Amino acid sequence: MPSIDPKRLLSDLRTLRSIGAQGIGVVRPAFSAKDMEARRWLAARFEEAGLETRIDGVGNVLGRSRKAGRALLLGSHSDTQATGGWLDGALGVIYALEVARALVADSASRDLPLDLVSFQDEESRFLGCLGSRSLIGALTPEMERGAADKDGVVLADALAQAGLADAPRLRISRERYAGFFEAHIEQGPTLDDSGKRIGVVTGIVGLRGIRFAFHGQQNHAGTTMMARRRDASAALYELAQRINQEFPKLAAERSVWTMGRLKLEPNAASIVPGYAELDLQFRDAAEAQLDAFTEAAQRIVAEMNARGSVRIAATPARAPIAPTQMDDGLRSHLEAAAEKHAPGKWMRLPSGAFHDAGIISACLPAAMLFIPSIGGISHDFAEDSREEDIVLGCQVLADAVAACAAAAGIRGL
Ligand code: GLV
Ligand code: MN
Ligand code: MN
Repeated sequence: MPSIDPKRLLSDLRTLRSIGAQGIGVVRPAFSAKDMEARRWLAARFEEAGLETRIDGVGNVLGRSRKAGRALLLGSHSDTQATGGWLDGALGVIYALEVARALVADSASRDLPLDLVSFQDEESRFLGCLGSRSLIGALTPEMERGAADKDGVVLADALAQAGLADAPRLRISRERYAGFFEAHIEQGPTLDDSGKRIGVVTGIVGLRGIRFAFHGQQNHAGTTMMARRRDASAALYELAQRINQEFPKLAAERSVWTMGRLKLEPNAASIVPGYAELDLQFRDAAEAQLDAFTEAAQRIVAEMNARGSVRIAATPARAPIAPTQMDDGLRSHLEAAAEKHAPGKWMRLPSGAFHDAGIISACLPAAMLFIPSIGGISHDFAEDSREEDIVLGCQVLADAVAACAAAAGIRGL
């Protein structure tokens, strides 16, 4: 079985962390100068590992084995949240690189074709999982048209700025790959709280979003009597409160919803806001649950619109994500490797975060491995994992990949 090199693994993770580092966190949003610098650094590492590497027209870094024949695909994403942690995405990309190097050094698995990927914009600066959607041909012109970040920068301009406007967009072919493995930090507390060191993901939540736009009348905050106001912010607060009242009545055990972004115009203490926006996001493992939340939100909006003071328009987010199950066959290799290296210290669990593996699973068998996040903290500078868990997770992945290849009869030609 292949042996990973813990020093090389940790050193590469720290180098990637240094690109865009701010304090203990990382600021490397998709297509930023730091993101592109990291992608060029990764492309050079993939080349050093013997892979033919390209950065495609949406910024995916794809390293292709020079061996022909059926292959496995490994990776994750290297973009971060606007204020992100150092391991979200980066862990899975550097694991993939280290596994590829470990396999080449192992006589039994050196001929295995292994391709590596760092997907672009998993973190939704413009469009969640943009890179993986593009690679499977699921990125539609409608999704891209008008896609903008929270500061109003449009995707087409970001692509041009990053020098990608004319680069070809790559597609992955079902014929080439026997499957896709993604490793990631858990980003929640389940493993850490239960003292387990490895998680094998059963399924990934689905996600939908709605943007509410509130159209009122901007006016003077001292002279406009309350009964006369058409206050966009008052309608926003009412809608938010009603969602927080109604959704718990419908919620399943792991349903979650978040109103993480709002905008008031003109956002001044002495002006009744004339316009406001609120983004609602909700997640669950069942489509029926997501339907129930969608219908509840629509009903509340219809009731409020019937009163007629502030007009509310509700627009579904451009890139929903469907709930997915991981592939049983690939999972069994992760489970066997976890039991070998961490007997009794691993568990199966669902993912409340979405991942590129969920998108890729529409095209290829896919599976995911988690390591614990200390205190369950992620999407924050404080995100961290224990060094011994980082090393263990990579060795488990290497064994699972080698075993999966053997079982699928994969060998390079
Ligand atoms: C992915 O980053 C998510 O928000 O789940
Ligand atoms: Mn991630
Ligand atoms: Mn993330």
